[in-house]
Amino acid sequence: EPPKVVVPKVVVKPEEVDDGKKKVTIFFGTQSGTAEGFAKELAEEGKARYDKAMFRVIDLDDYAADDEEYQEKLKKESLAFFFLATYGDGEPTDSAARFYKWFVEGEGRGDWLKNLNYGVFGLGNRQYEHFNKIAKVVDELMADHGGRRLVPVGLGDDDQCMEDDFAAWRELVWPELDNLLRDEDDATVNTPYTAAVPEYRVVFYDRPDVSILKNESIHANSHTIYDVQHPCRANVAAKKELHTTASDRSCTHLEFDIFGTGLAYETGDHVGVYCENLIETVIEAERLLNLSPDTYFSIHTDREDGTPLSGSSLVPPFPPCTLRTALARYADLLSSPKKSALIALAAHASDPIEEDRLRYLASPSGKDEYAQWVVASQRSLLEVMAEFPSAKPSLGVFFAAIAPRLQPRYYSISSSPKIAPSRIHVTCALVYEKTPVGRIHKGVCSTWMKNAVSFEESIDCSWAPIFVRQSNFKLPADPKVPIIMIGPGTGLAPFRGFLQERLALLESGVELGPAILFFGCRNRKMDFIYEEELNKYVEARVISELVIAFSREGPTKEYVQHKMTEKASDIWNMISKGGYLYVCGDAKGMARDVHRTLHTIMQEKGSLGTSEAESMVKNLQTSGRYLRDVW
Ligand code: 2AM
Repeated sequence: EPPKVVVPKVVVKPEEVDDGKKKVTIFFGTQSGTAEGFAKELAEEGKARYDKAMFRVIDLDDYAADDEEYQEKLKKESLAFFFLATYGDGEPTDSAARFYKWFVEGEGRGDWLKNLNYGVFGLGNRQYEHFNKIAKVVDELMADHGGRRLVPVGLGDDDQCMEDDFAAWRELVWPELDNLLRDEDDATVNTPYTAAVPEYRVVFYDRPDVSILKNESIHANSHTIYDVQHPCRANVAAKKELHTTASDRSCTHLEFDIFGTGLAYETGDHVGVYCENLIETVIEAERLLNLSPDTYFSIHTDREDGTPLSGSSLVPPFPPCTLRTALARYADLLSSPKKSALIALAAHASDPIEEDRLRYLASPSGKDEYAQWVVASQRSLLEVMAEFPSAKPSLGVFFAAIAPRLQPRYYSISSSPKIAPSRIHVTCALVYEKTPVGRIHKGVCSTWMKNAVSFEESIDCSWAPIFVRQSNFKLPADPKVPIIMIGPGTGLAPFRGFLQERLALLESGVELGPAILFFGCRNRKMDFIYEEELNKYVEARVISELVIAFSREGPTKEYVQHKMTEKASDIWNMISKGGYLYVCGDAKGMARDVHRTLHTIMQEKGSLGTSEAESMVKNLQTSGRYLRDVW
């Protein structure tokens, strides 16, 4: 390939708005808030550095109502930054999905971004196949459409330290912005910048009054549309352990009751679950904060006079409640603390030795020690706080800067509304592992599910705020089309939904095409989940073949991809007849290996060269016939 000729682009000075300030727009597509946090940090520092600039931070989804508006508005931007995360199978976050689809699919727009100076920072994880795909694609396309790239695309890697990646990228941004935004008379030129520790304003109450208790009504299912911000309160209707007593692990089958709530789902969708921390975790946090569990308080992002607090990186507050409730529902206490959290703790440490050590861990010179002592050791926030007992942050600082908001967990729904219209089924493996320093890490949501009390057991049953996230992991519209399903472990979940749907179709007289299911587990006597059900589906001819790989029964490991190789001819035939292929489960190991195996099967059965086989697999992917639900 001949080298690309790089044509130097004319520098377009950013547009000045009414008050003579230059406008900078910072976009984010967020899921868990990290991209949004970085966007706000960049804006905060930018504001401090440049008198003559105006920074605004905006969710890509809120920016424009439709494709045309995206184009109209973006055309007018002259200086913009994009913070974009990549998830699962190389997908954008929900809030960037609409923008991304339009931006990537739109063709022939020419040099329409020639007014734009831009920079892209990606949030991803190097362990995954499509590392920072979304950021890379957007960065390339912006340049293709005439935009002027100010800095190389930032590739944040959550497997290492995303905060450091962002800090390094940010240092490349400032010289560029100095060029574009500074005048000689800019007063801020030589002022060094240190970010203030964010803090909510906190109001304490003597005792809960009616106005506070009313806020509990956020769980009263008064919304017509449920989403991540407006979840639906759902009771746990049923719960069952799926592993046998011979297994030393645990996998929970749990059913949420959605009858009468208006919450609906489709086969293949995901459910988001807001769970609670274990009481033992909450009590430890109360001890470390040295505050009573009954402390009633509310947090606010504005001053008493209604003006916004500086440091706009505050996430919206949760409703007034007791400290016990706040710690159980809203605080991520078991993840490793971010460097910014260590700095906030340092600011509240009364012992100077502890303060120094915390600042060191968060500093560039303490980089390796942070990577070792905090990240590799999987020290939780609570473990770190316990090591620095003199650090007693206020609640305003704790919830703003130290404990991130507890995020909802997503699960592939393991039922179909055709069979279970008023229930959402979840199949969830328990996370229970010893960390390098000997703590038993109990996964927050999987532990909550394992301990949940169903209304079959008690009227005082467990409940959780939940919502449904649509997916494109769907059965073919024509039930006669052959399907191949590959789902070891809890990767079986969405396929259980598929099979329920096929059963419903069959019972209503619809003719079904062939379906083969590859399932993998360790040992038939331990973790062959839903064994009876699956056998019934075979009997009923909902699946034409069930192929199981037991990894710890014989002398050698047998995985689903080994079974695929044995069935290579069937797979090739089904795909040749227009069949669909589905993979669900672990992205880092299984899905990658299955992908390679598929490639080999294509090559051998189709007598294709490597690149021909590759483009055939690509084709399957782009035409929506090779779908992956991976994590
Ligand atoms: P193992 O735990 O014995 O290694 C469900 O988790 C099943 O997937 C288990 O039997 C597990 O086997 C298996 N598994 C682990 N890694 C895999 C991989 N890379 N590809 C396919 N299956 C895998």
